[in-house]
Amino acid sequence: MGLPIIPTVAACLLLAYFIYTYLIYPALLSPLSRVPNAHWSAPISPLWVLYHRLFQNDTRAVHAAHTELGPIIRLAPNELSLNCVDGGIRTIYAGGYAKGDWYSNVFSNYGVQPMFAMPEHGPHSKRKRMLSNIYAKSTLQGNEGVGRISRALLHERLLPRLEAVAASGKPTEVYDIFSSVTMDFVAAYVFGLRNGSDFLRQPEFAKKFVKDYKARQLYTFWPQEMPRFTDFMSRVGLLGLIVPKWVTRSNHDIEDWIISMCDRAELSLTGEAAEKGEIGAAEDFPTVYAQLRTALIKDISKSDLDLSVEQIAKTHRLDMASEMLDHVLAGFDTSSITLTWLAWQLSRPCNVQWQQRLQAEIDALHNVEDAKEIDTLPVLNAILMETLRLHAAIPGNQPRVTPPAATLGEPGHALSALPAGIRVQSQAWSLHRNPEVFPDPYAWNPARWLESSELQLKEMGRWFWAFGSGGRMCVGSNLAMLEMKNVMVAVWGAFLTSIADDSGMIANGGYLAEPMGKDGKFLVLQLEKRGKAQQS
Ligand code: HEM
Ligand SMILES: *[C@@H]1O[C@H](CO)[C@@H](O)[C@H](O)[C@H]1NC(C)=O
Ligand SMILES: *[C@@H]1O[C@H](CO)[C@@H](O)[C@H](O)[C@H]1NC(C)=O
Repeated sequence: MGLPIIPTVAACLLLAYFIYTYLIYPALLSPLSRVPNAHWSAPISPLWVLYHRLFQNDTRAVHAAHTELGPIIRLAPNELSLNCVDGGIRTIYAGGYAKGDWYSNVFSNYGVQPMFAMPEHGPHSKRKRMLSNIYAKSTLQGNEGVGRISRALLHERLLPRLEAVAASGKPTEVYDIFSSVTMDFVAAYVFGLRNGSDFLRQPEFAKKFVKDYKARQLYTFWPQEMPRFTDFMSRVGLLGLIVPKWVTRSNHDIEDWIISMCDRAELSLTGEAAEKGEIGAAEDFPTVYAQLRTALIKDISKSDLDLSVEQIAKTHRLDMASEMLDHVLAGFDTSSITLTWLAWQLSRPCNVQWQQRLQAEIDALHNVEDAKEIDTLPVLNAILMETLRLHAAIPGNQPRVTPPAATLGEPGHALSALPAGIRVQSQAWSLHRNPEVFPDPYAWNPARWLESSELQLKEMGRWFWAFGSGGRMCVGSNLAMLEMKNVMVAVWGAFLTSIADDSGMIANGGYLAEPMGKDGKFLVLQLEKRGKAQQS
C-alpha cells in the first residue's frame, strides 16, 4: 500500500522548510550563530530569556551569562546582549538605533505615545527639543521656583514628618517617604507646587497611588514581550486570564489623577488671574506643562492658522497629559528607588564612616538651600554616584533594533553585516560591574569616585550608564540629581540613621531594581535627631 505521492512530497518539503528556517538557519547559518549562547536553546527558541523576564530575573541571568561568556552573547534566535562601550553602547545608543515597539506596547497613556515610547526618530527628537531646556542643569539651578519648591517640600513637609518620628523613638519605613518626596518634587515642577501632589502630607493617598502604580508594572510582561499573543487573548475575550481586570482600573485611576492636574495647570495659565496678567508665585508655575504647551502651540500655528490657542490646547489635551504622566511616573519611581538604596547603604554599620563624612560636609555648607553649592560637595556626590552605579534604578535591558548592515562587538571581535531588525540590548547592571573599570565591583565604595586618577575617572564615566546614553538618554537626570542631593542634605544634616529592619531590601531583577519588600516592609530605619553639638 503506497502513500499518496503528492501529499507526502508536500509534507516532506514543509518539514524540510521548518527544519531549515527554525533550526538549521538560526543555529548554524545566521550571522548570529557565531555568538556565544546564553543558554543552549537560545539559537532556536526565546523561551530561556522569556522565562527569566516573566519572573523578573532576566538582568541577573543575562549578567551571569556575560560573566561566563564575554561582552557579546545571544539571548534568543533574534536577540543579542552587548556589554561593552566601543562596539556596544556607543554604537547602539549614541548611534541612535530605533526603540522598536517594546516601549510603545506598554508606555502609552490615554492611547497616546509620550516621548519615552515613540519608536520613530523624527517625532521623538522633535518632542525632546521642545523639552530638554527646562531640564538643563543651568536652568534648574538658576530657577527660583525650583529653590522654593525644594524649601517648601523638604523644610516644611519632610523634616517635620521625620522629626515627629524621631521624637517618638520608633523606627520608620522610609521607602514610601522617599516616594512621596520625589513625587511631590517632580509633580511640583511639572504642574506647580500648589496644583501638584501632596503625598508627604497625605500618606494614605500616597499608599493607594503606589499600589496602583505597582499593579501597572507587574503585568507589563505580556504586552511587552508577547504582544501578538496578548492581542489574540484580548480579541477572543480572554485577556483577563493573563492580565487581571483591576490592572486596567488602576491604570485608569492614575490617568484620571494626572489629567485632573493637567486641567488645573491649564486653568492656571488661562484663568481669570492669568488673564489679568497677575503673576503667581514662582513655585506655583507649571513649568513643564507650560513649556510643552507653548512649544506645541508654536509648532501647530506654523501650519494651521485657523485654530485658536484654546482650540489647539484642547486638541492636544491627551498628548500633553500623556507626556506629563510619563515624566511624573518616570521621575518619582527611579529617584525614590535610588534614595532608598542610598539610605540603606549609609545606615549599615559597616558604612558609618561615610555617614559621618557626609555630615561633616553638610555641616560646613554656607547655605543648605543652595543647589549650586550642594553640587560642589565631593563626598556627597561620590556617595550618590556609587549608589547609582551599584544600585542603578533601571539596571535592566534597554532594547533597541538594528538598522541594516550593522557592525557590533568590541573592535577585533566585531560582527559585521548583521541583518536589520535584531533586538539588541545593554544593561547598566553589567556595565557597572566590569572589574577592569570598577575594581571590586560588588562593593559599595564611594572612595572610588574620590581617589581614582583622572584617566580612570574618565573611563568610569564612559561605562556609567544609570541614565542611559545617546538621544534617548534620561531627560530628567539633572532634576533627579538636584532633588536627590537636596534630600540628602536635608535628611543627613538633621538625623543620624541606622537600620532597624532591612529584610525587605531584596532588589527586583528585572527592568527596575526596586526593593521587593518582605511582609510589607522595605527599609525600616531608626532616626535620631542630631544635636547642635554634633552639627558644629
Ligand atoms: C534616579 C533617577 C532616574 C534614573 C535612574 C533614570 C533613568 C533613566 C533611563 C535609564 C532612561 C532610558 C530608558 C530606556 O531607554 O529604556 C530614562 C529615560 C527617561 N527618563 Fe529618566 N531617570 C531618572 C529620573 C527621571 C526624572 C526625574 C524624570 C522626569 C522629569 C525622568 C524622565 C525620563 C524620560 C521622559 C525619559 C525618556 C527620554 C527619551 O525617550 O528621550 N527621569 N531615564
Ligand atoms: C536569578 O538569576 C541568577 C543568575 O542566573 C540566579 O543565581 C538566581 O538564583 C536567580 N534568582 C531567582 C529568584 O530565580
Ligand atoms: C490651581 O488650579 C486652579 C484651577 O483649578 C487655578 O485657578 C489656580 O490658579 C491654580 N493655582 C495656582 C497657584 O496656580
